Amino acid sequence: MERTQVVLPAGAIRRQEEFTRRLAALHRQRGRQTLAMVDTYGCQQNVADSQRLMGMLREMGCGFTRDPYAADIIVINTCAIRENAEKKVFGVVGQLVHAKEKNPDLVICLCGCMAQQEAVAGRIKNSYRHVNLVFGPQALWKFPELLYGVYTDEKRVFSIADEHGSIAEGLPVVRESDVKAWVSIMYGCNNFCSYCIVPYVRGRERSREASDILAEVRELVEAGYKEITLLGQNVNSYGKDLDMPMDFADLLKEIDRIPGDYLIRFMTSHPKDAGRKLFETMAACPHVARQLHLPVQSGSSRVLQAMNRGYTREQYLEKVRMAREAMPDIVLTSDIIIGFPGETEEEAMETVSLIEEVRYDALFTFIYSPRPGTPAAKLPDPAARTEKQVWFDRLLDSQNRISGELHRAYIGKTVRVLVDGENGDEAWPLSSRTHGGRLVHLKGDKTLIGQYAEARITDSNTWALFGELV
Ligand code: 5AD
Ligand code: SF4
Repeated sequence: MERTQVVLPAGAIRRQEEFTRRLAALHRQRGRQTLAMVDTYGCQQNVADSQRLMGMLREMGCGFTRDPYAADIIVINTCAIRENAEKKVFGVVGQLVHAKEKNPDLVICLCGCMAQQEAVAGRIKNSYRHVNLVFGPQALWKFPELLYGVYTDEKRVFSIADEHGSIAEGLPVVRESDVKAWVSIMYGCNNFCSYCIVPYVRGRERSREASDILAEVRELVEAGYKEITLLGQNVNSYGKDLDMPMDFADLLKEIDRIPGDYLIRFMTSHPKDAGRKLFETMAACPHVARQLHLPVQSGSSRVLQAMNRGYTREQYLEKVRMAREAMPDIVLTSDIIIGFPGETEEEAMETVSLIEEVRYDALFTFIYSPRPGTPAAKLPDPAARTEKQVWFDRLLDSQNRISGELHRAYIGKTVRVLVDGENGDEAWPLSSRTHGGRLVHLKGDKTLIGQYAEARITDSNTWALFGELV
């Protein structure tokens, strides 16, 4: 695919701005502010996408509400990664029938990864007739045009064509925090891990131009943002498709040169493309957080191969060793899938032994969920759910113990944290993060939000640290 076909021409975005103006004029006819509700499920990429949708809605003159009965427009941004996520969304969408009965003018939109699947779109078409608009992640940039179609044609609109995907620059955005911001650096995934639906719903890998990313980060730093997280399904593939090849480590180095008091985090790294250059670059860049989310998925080389992950247990452990050699204080986290089709108890215990060996600071753990259309969903899966649950609980027991031990080791130490918000707890009113991204509940005044502080850690549990300002 040619670059020129990937990056949308400015004219395409201007056309959307024209639809936005027409929608704003229609909304003004209400004689009161039109209210929109945006409900987001799933990963940070979806959170970032929703902030763009909110940006477009704001330009259409909308205000925002969390109450479906007060809303004129509801957008549900969905996740397809596991069956549970989908079930939840179908429940939520089903409930909205009542809001639609009360307000027949209510416009209900379903977007995101679930919407991109034909089977889901079909089910919405036939059984959820109160939904007006369905569009996949590749169509996000045309939301104004699609919504305008719903208003003017009085027909239901479905935009889920299977597209390679494009890059839309200059979309408006509503950032929900003044401290933390998300910056997408690439979209899509080419890895086709055998269990994963993402490559089927988010299109092919495509990288934003470095100059666009740098301009966005610079703007955020100048606006006072303190924590910027670079997003991509696999940030380590960054740049492979650019005309002027540059890799993710090169990009980090460029970003790091932007002056200011801020931290760069990033998600997610695929172990097969992460290596010495990345780790040494991280170590050399003062703005880059000492934090690495390096999903291993399994500790069994046989299962890793069946997952199409492109590395063995030993190769993964070697990368961890390299990362720690470059950054001894690195905070390491990972994703794990237990119960991949055909996984035996012995293989699941290889995963437990791997986490005992690595001693991650924290884990995101999942029981395998078959995704229709993926190769793994066609494999025989003899282990019972109850059996997988036993393996899963063993994994959790190990990780909880490890996280507890690593957290306890912070007690008595003084660490630099970024105070990022309130957490509604009277005893520990502030939430903050260490350089490595560990959560610290803090005593203190909310005027500190958005500032760095020195915290002495006084207590800890499995999930978090507790501290006082020094
Ligand atoms: N079942 C369970 N977990 C999955 N993940 C991705 N696909 C599946 C699936 N079918 C997990 C992986 C991935 C994380 C985002 O979700 O661990 O890294
Ligand atoms: Fe899914 Fe693998 Fe791509 Fe991650 S790298 S989104 S797990 S296919």
